[in-house]
Amino acid sequence: MSLQTNIAGLKLKSPLILASGVVGISAPLLKRCEENGAGAVTLKSIGPNPRAGHKNPTVLALQYGIINAVGLSNVGYKNIDSEIEEIKKILKIPFIVSIFGEKIKDYKTIAAHIAALKPNAIELNVSCPNVEKFGSAFGLDAELCSKIVSDVKNVSGSIPIIPKLTPQANNIADIAKACEDAGADAICAINTAGPGMVIDIETAKPMLTFKKGGLSGPMIKPIAIRCVYDIYEKVRIPIIGTGGIVSGKDAIEIMQAGASCVGIGSAVYYNGFEAFGKINKEMQAWMKEHNYKNLDKLRGIAHG
Ligand SMILES: Cc1cc2nc3c(=O)[nH]c(=O)nc-3n(C[C@H](O)[C@H](O)[C@H](O)COP(=O)(O)O)c2cc1C
Repeated sequence: MSLQTNIAGLKLKSPLILASGVVGISAPLLKRCEENGAGAVTLKSIGPNPRAGHKNPTVLALQYGIINAVGLSNVGYKNIDSEIEEIKKILKIPFIVSIFGEKIKDYKTIAAHIAALKPNAIELNVSCPNVEKFGSAFGLDAELCSKIVSDVKNVSGSIPIIPKLTPQANNIADIAKACEDAGADAICAINTAGPGMVIDIETAKPMLTFKKGGLSGPMIKPIAIRCVYDIYEKVRIPIIGTGGIVSGKDAIEIMQAGASCVGIGSAVYYNGFEAFGKINKEMQAWMKEHNYKNLDKLRGIAHG
């Protein structure tokens, strides 16, 4: 039962890719994902400037998932060269650097710097608010996404570019198509859903310091499945299906919707690094039971 797959020219021994943000950018922690069966890893998003992020509490475990308002805490793109060199030294699997901009032009500047460090791919987190356009996310606007992708393609040479889309866009498939037309090599869908809010009824106050936060984990899986399904109908480039995948059967489901690879975020929060091995094993057991020798015949079969 082979779990091997290819995405945007990268050869993966498993379709499971660590989603951005849950593990950070530390080389030894990313190595633990590899040791536990991840096919590739994505680093936490890096932006134009160092940011402390929001004050604690920023992450709360709920009954069916997680709510977070980490606030894009990061060291800034000028301060990660040595960590990326360390990652290149110790990791055998591909690594994807995720970047975000506060302004549209930031994506090009950061991508040019990151491309010189030769990651296996660059993911574009377009789910953050566009400070030039009154705070609405870049990822809600097909034209802006198209501009960001083509700007980045111009400075990144042969490194694959993967925009990561937000489910807050109710035309997510149109946004994916605009990205494909602008030269994107793959699509990652989805980022966190919501925003949501949790109130402590004893203090009558929102529990997150930032009040609102993005939702992830099992409660968003049906949204992720629908988004991947819609995107698969509109684009030919491969999709990294992300959102609420915690078991082998979840992974099979999002692949049947059209994903070539599967992002794993909250499952690591719940189950630790062993999440990868557990999901790999469960996928193989399901494939054996249903006579699939590899993943090729599985992709997109929920369509038509
Ligand atoms: C604590 C936390 C931090 C996150 N940070 C980022 C981030 O920096 N960049 C990003 O693109 N997505 C970030 N995400 C979103 C995840 O990569 C993923 O898209 C989302 O959680 C849905 O997948 P899941 O249900 O498997 O967690 C974060 C999610 C969580 C829970």
